Amino acid sequence: MSFRTSPALGSARAGGPPSAVDYVEDVSPGSGALPPRAWYASSDAKALSLDGAWRFRLSATVDAEDESFAEEGYDAAGWAEVTVPGHWVLQGEGAFGLPIYTNHLYPFPVDPPHVPTENPTGDHLRVFDLPDDWPSEGGAVVRFDGVESCARVWLNGTDLGEFKGSRLAHEFAVGHLLKPKGNVLAVRVHQWSAGSYLEDQDQWWLPGIFREVTLLHRPAGSALDFFVHASYDHVSGEGTLRVDSDVDGRVLVPALDIDVATGEPVTALVAPWSAESPRLYDGELVTEGERIPLRIGFRTVVLEDGLIKVNGKAVLFKGVNRHEWHPEKGRTLDLATMREDVLLMKRHNINAVRTSHYPPHPAFLDLCDEYGLWVIDECDLETHGFTEQDWRDNPVDDDRWTPALLDRAARMVERDKNHPSVVLWSLGNEAGTGRGLTAMAEWIHGRDPERLVHYEGDWNCRDTDVYSRMYADHAEVEQIGKELDGGTLGRRKLPFIQCEYGHAMGNGPGGIADYQELFAKYERLQGGFIWEWIDHGVKHPELGYAYGGDFGEELHDGNFVCDGLVFPDRTPSPGLLEYKKVVEPVSIEGSDGTVRVTNKYDFADLSALAFEWSYQVDGETVEAGTLSVPALAPGESADLKLPEPPAHLDGSETRWTVRALLAADTAWAPKDHVVAWGQFPAVAGVRPSLVPSASPVREEGRITLGPAAFDGRTGALRTIGGVAVENPRLDVWRATTDNDDGTEWKSGLCYSTLWRTLGLHRMRHRLVGVELESQALVVRTRVAPAAREVGLAAEYRWTSDGSRLKLTVSVTPEGQWTVPLPRLGVRLGLSAVGSGAGSAVDSGVASGVASGVVSPVASAVDEVKWFGGGPGEAYPDTRAASEVGRWSATVDQLQTPYLRPQENGARADVRWVEVGGLRIEGDPEFSFAARRWTTEQLDAATHLTDLVAGETVWVNLDHRHHGIGTASCGPGVLPQYHLLAEPAEFSFVFSEVSG
Ligand code: GAL
Repeated sequence: MSFRTSPALGSARAGGPPSAVDYVEDVSPGSGALPPRAWYASSDAKALSLDGAWRFRLSATVDAEDESFAEEGYDAAGWAEVTVPGHWVLQGEGAFGLPIYTNHLYPFPVDPPHVPTENPTGDHLRVFDLPDDWPSEGGAVVRFDGVESCARVWLNGTDLGEFKGSRLAHEFAVGHLLKPKGNVLAVRVHQWSAGSYLEDQDQWWLPGIFREVTLLHRPAGSALDFFVHASYDHVSGEGTLRVDSDVDGRVLVPALDIDVATGEPVTALVAPWSAESPRLYDGELVTEGERIPLRIGFRTVVLEDGLIKVNGKAVLFKGVNRHEWHPEKGRTLDLATMREDVLLMKRHNINAVRTSHYPPHPAFLDLCDEYGLWVIDECDLETHGFTEQDWRDNPVDDDRWTPALLDRAARMVERDKNHPSVVLWSLGNEAGTGRGLTAMAEWIHGRDPERLVHYEGDWNCRDTDVYSRMYADHAEVEQIGKELDGGTLGRRKLPFIQCEYGHAMGNGPGGIADYQELFAKYERLQGGFIWEWIDHGVKHPELGYAYGGDFGEELHDGNFVCDGLVFPDRTPSPGLLEYKKVVEPVSIEGSDGTVRVTNKYDFADLSALAFEWSYQVDGETVEAGTLSVPALAPGESADLKLPEPPAHLDGSETRWTVRALLAADTAWAPKDHVVAWGQFPAVAGVRPSLVPSASPVREEGRITLGPAAFDGRTGALRTIGGVAVENPRLDVWRATTDNDDGTEWKSGLCYSTLWRTLGLHRMRHRLVGVELESQALVVRTRVAPAAREVGLAAEYRWTSDGSRLKLTVSVTPEGQWTVPLPRLGVRLGLSAVGSGAGSAVDSGVASGVASGVVSPVASAVDEVKWFGGGPGEAYPDTRAASEVGRWSATVDQLQTPYLRPQENGARADVRWVEVGGLRIEGDPEFSFAARRWTTEQLDAATHLTDLVAGETVWVNLDHRHHGIGTASCGPGVLPQYHLLAEPAEFSFVFSEVSG
């Protein structure tokens, strides 16, 4: 038998806990549990779920209550109840304590391995009967799939042991203790333990039995553990299968005609497994005692030529970091939610997941096998809080902790080793460097030489097979791509990934298209993983979604926990749509009636896709058809002729749009799902023009010009025809985004601080002059913050042809400007004049994509139509997914409900927009936003529920925006997306629209 277990972990640890509660602060992993093994559900051995309502008693300290509750006959009738799996702080409406969010600070004194005396301790009790058909022969184990952070277990009064390692499975042998009726399973769970020092991940601290508890029958002769080795030879096309089992048996794979003994290799022609084509072969491991279903994927992962290769090819990771999150249940996820994550990822062209920062629920890996995602499976280890003391006393560099680290490594590898989707093991996250990590890496390399080892925290890559970084800026990534990254020689020979980049906090991330270009350009760069998948907002009765600080934590990191590509309810944010476009597996570019299609998959040809073209005149599709594209192999391109464009009116703007769609239903999306698209102009449109003919006229207290009336003294616009307009004037302020509020890693600059210090959020407008020219009204102002010398001279030149009104804004910076501007444009207010429609929003929350809150009563200024980029928001460095076309939305739908309100919802490249009875055409194209609150109100809000709609719709017509970047964690806005304070001129033509 070739099956091996770690010498350090080979057998159940003997002996009970040292004394009453010492185990809580003991650095060892625990005692009494069985050795780790592959996680599976047997086809025939019985299993009894112990999930559901458990009796629950919360104590303030570990020893407030004695252990008598574990005895048979204990009367827990007066106890509360909690649902298992679940976190007790998310149940009981506060009666059981509250969640705590910190990024890397330990929420207790750093005094390892000690934890506070105040240590919430939850006693859980469950009485169960065995089902009538439970076999009388054989043994049984009780399996805990996840308990945070430390648990002690008794069955029928017998102490089974205790364990730490929250997101890892632990099993105890219980067959000898079971009786047909009235079994008492008692579990004492401590929120804090020595294990907490190893679990300092950036997330909520959530104690409880948060994954399933199961009683598993173990028939005599059932497998203890087994290891499926299924490699693929990309030259011969053969797969080699060998299943090692510590109980002999046979391995059956009917589709391959395989019937072989365990431990024996067998070779067959197979279709390989990849994230793109996740071919799984159903098989069985049959031992004397049970039948175990196998899902076998043949694939070989190697480090070769300095690259991570799977089945002979270098792969490009288009990944995300996934924490387990549900807004009501925390890290307790059901299968449907896990599947939703996988389907959303697949539908958004994501091909890889890093299970940050702990092994996920095992069923998630089954789904990755089935649907096809490359996985970096990460160990449940982070000691980030030690960075506060220069990593002194870091457990990963202290031999006393090494058994705990090895236990965690083994529990991950043994549990998950049979998943073809897992291609790299990660030692953990942000744990500094140290001997403990080396010990883990050595053990993993020895136990599973068929996969690679990842860890980001050691840039010298002593223990790893890949050079991994987080949030390296574009310039550095390019240097690394060029292999000019310095560092040790070892590291320079390794492939590079960004295990975290593109911090998706709030509006953003910006600049990911620029990263993707680098990944495509340099072979050594094998892609990256966006931080992160989901906002960890906690559903809250008053706040909508709560984040750090909302539960009164004494230490917290605010909304840094809301940095996902999907909102807490899993609605895609604009960041996910942008990422989908940026990582699309087919590129579609064109010019002059020709389209170039390039296959950017690593393995698949294009035969699964159908292509369609369409031709737009002024954003409206006038003709469409199918395009025949050869089944290009990965890396191949084809130039294809498009049909003759249809005739159209002179002056209109025309363009081609070509889409790649699924040609047939797949497991993860239906036929016609759009995988990739490209757009390219055919004929440029003419700019809006207006030949001035009307003259401004001073009347009593006002000035009129064509359809417009202005204030006679200030020259402020009041009405255009029947539409009341609240003074359009220069605007440079935006409600700062989380990225504006961040501090750029390299420069140490925080733009929102610079902007606020300068006073850009409190600009004053001094009227310099109002002049009536023969065919223009000219208003001059100086726009500047109190206490500062710098300012912007702004000239508003109004002209009219009698029916339409044109505004030309010229801006000239004065003084020494040392910071870019947040935005540059005009803002105006549109009121629902005479509409009579109530516009109060009861909840104050936009009905935009993810708020889940009732949408407001429609007011007169409601429907918005535009020709330009859409359907979603776009900023200078987040505009890959913005498609030029005709779009419409209500004002409320234009809002993106970032959990902490901030600038959002701007549509880019707008040619014209119709809103509130006005049509506004821009020259050049502009950025448009409309909301029912002012920028100042948006800026001041901390939660969506703070936003209360007013009667006025505030419209921003921006010449430009400053980029978004990802300074909320990492690099800021690339220089090309800076909005410098420079002379600028832009204009808008306003006209009334009827109906
Ligand atoms: C990384 C860390 C993540 C998360 C992220 C910021 O340093 O690994 O867990 O904290 O930064 O959101």
